Amino acid sequence: MLKTHNCGELRLSNAGEVVHLAGWLQRRRDHGGLIFLDIRDRSGLVQVTADPSVGEAYGVADKARNEYVLQIIGNVRPRPDGSANPNLASGEIEVLAQSITILNPARTTPMPIDDDGYKTDETLRLKYRYLDLRRERLQRNLILRHKTIKFIRDYLDRHGFLEIETPMMIKSTPEGARDYVVPSRVQRGKFYALPQSPQQLKQLLMVAGYERYFQIARCMRDEDLRGDRQPEFTQLDLEMSFVERDDVLAMVEGMVTGLIPAVVPHKRIFSPFPKMSYSDAMARYGSDKPDLRFGMEIIDLTDAVRNSDLRLFVETLQAGGSVKCILAPGCASYSRKDLDVLTEFVRSAGGRNLASLAWTGSGLKGSVAKSLKPEEAAEIARITQAGEGDLACIVADKAINACKALGALRLEFRDRLKLAPADLLAFGWVVDFPMFEWDDEEKRWSFVHHPFTSPREEHLDKLESDPGSVMSDAYDLVCNGYELSSGSIRIHRRDVQARIFRCLGYSDEEIQKRFGHMLDAFEFGAPPHGGMAPGIDRLVMLLADEPNIREVIAFPKTASGSDLMFDAPAELEPRHLRELHIRITE
Ligand code: AMO
Repeated sequence: MLKTHNCGELRLSNAGEVVHLAGWLQRRRDHGGLIFLDIRDRSGLVQVTADPSVGEAYGVADKARNEYVLQIIGNVRPRPDGSANPNLASGEIEVLAQSITILNPARTTPMPIDDDGYKTDETLRLKYRYLDLRRERLQRNLILRHKTIKFIRDYLDRHGFLEIETPMMIKSTPEGARDYVVPSRVQRGKFYALPQSPQQLKQLLMVAGYERYFQIARCMRDEDLRGDRQPEFTQLDLEMSFVERDDVLAMVEGMVTGLIPAVVPHKRIFSPFPKMSYSDAMARYGSDKPDLRFGMEIIDLTDAVRNSDLRLFVETLQAGGSVKCILAPGCASYSRKDLDVLTEFVRSAGGRNLASLAWTGSGLKGSVAKSLKPEEAAEIARITQAGEGDLACIVADKAINACKALGALRLEFRDRLKLAPADLLAFGWVVDFPMFEWDDEEKRWSFVHHPFTSPREEHLDKLESDPGSVMSDAYDLVCNGYELSSGSIRIHRRDVQARIFRCLGYSDEEIQKRFGHMLDAFEFGAPPHGGMAPGIDRLVMLLADEPNIREVIAFPKTASGSDLMFDAPAELEPRHLRELHIRITE
């Protein structure tokens, strides 16, 4: 080894030892007489001092520049009185260099890397990701990711799960996104699909009798990217046989409840995780992934304004709509302009309008203050428990639109009023999802989770006659406004699975061609089974307090799916295309 010690681990107890260190020069300070080098390796920083009386080491220190790779041999000694650095773990000591060797010089880096990087253009960060990854913040994130996955592996191992790998080159799996495909050279005109998840494979492992499976699985989806989505991402994919919904929830809840104190002890969680139905989540938070770190729930005012003369309310109620609001504390003083901004916000979230009612020191204000009867205003104040200084933001619309718009506004107030405690990870279960949703564009039913999700046994007879009312056995784990994980109890009977595919508009021929292997498997003694798949990237992002999942992935892609470091995707040589029997058209 070129080193005997790690830089960041040296302490007063090492004083007097001769150490060999190897690492990068983070910063060099020339104090006229002495040169101080901050040397960094994965463990952290240590100060190396080059004294002109040790001529050779001093000469090299003088030449060394930031990010040079250096090897240092020197003596650990306490720093002189008053010069200890309490912000550095190794800050009580320094290493007096006897010799310094330049193992490799470095060009000036295209961006500073001794900061947290948030202010650096991300394009540059991704192009030089190997430099970006030298930052302490990213290193901390990847270490946290490692610890998280290690905890998960140990937990599941203790609970009798087997880690089993599944293939990357398979056939299309319907998870709601487009497939990435790989052309076959040997079989002209045929393609593999990369897995959107190992969903079918893990179910087949249950049919094969493995009972408890997990995998830290890479998934590939060609879909619109956002801060919490990457084309290539990682799931903790797990599946269990002979279980009911609450068995899966308990297994995952136990894992997460153990994980948090083990890897982020400064974070708080609610325990047990609250459980709410999908319809409750939509009604109370306007979202199926509610941020439960704060209240500000949506309040229904429909009954309070049932006899109102206000045109907006009358027309909405006549059309079968609802009147709903959220109460923003301390926002009664919002100006007309502030409210215009909120109105725009509501509109872009799909709400038709925003009405307001403000309880101020000089009486009731806001766009509907004058048109409400006093008893209506009093009833609204009673229901919302509004007091002086509060602002009711009211949306009159179809119930679902009003809830979604107010749900988005609720998150806007969260950020404006800083309502979410930073140390809280508010996990919660959302259950009782509908099985299907109507796709207005395609004019057909589509699945809410995926087509292998089991409908509720007691709803089976409504599958064909009233698909919209069928509830599924699916569940989501949400945290701080993100969908962290989703799963379900699966179908394990051929007839039910075939009926689901038919409800989704597949012909019998298509069903056989695409999913024949699953239907066949279900005829050979498939056990009842269920599972779920927490997104590892999203989980670590939340644990690390990062704003997007790219910060916790070593080599992420941009929003347009590019890898800026490799410059991928890239063209293929014509010869290569010919081999794959592919022609690029204009
Ligand atoms: P689903 O598609 O809901 O379910 O995915 C499960 C979890 O994976 C994460 N996730 C993503 N993370 C980053 N980038 C993406 N593009 C992305 N897409 C999904 C999320 C999500 O909650 N086979 C089912 C699971 C099951 O039923 O067991 C599935 O994949 O955290």
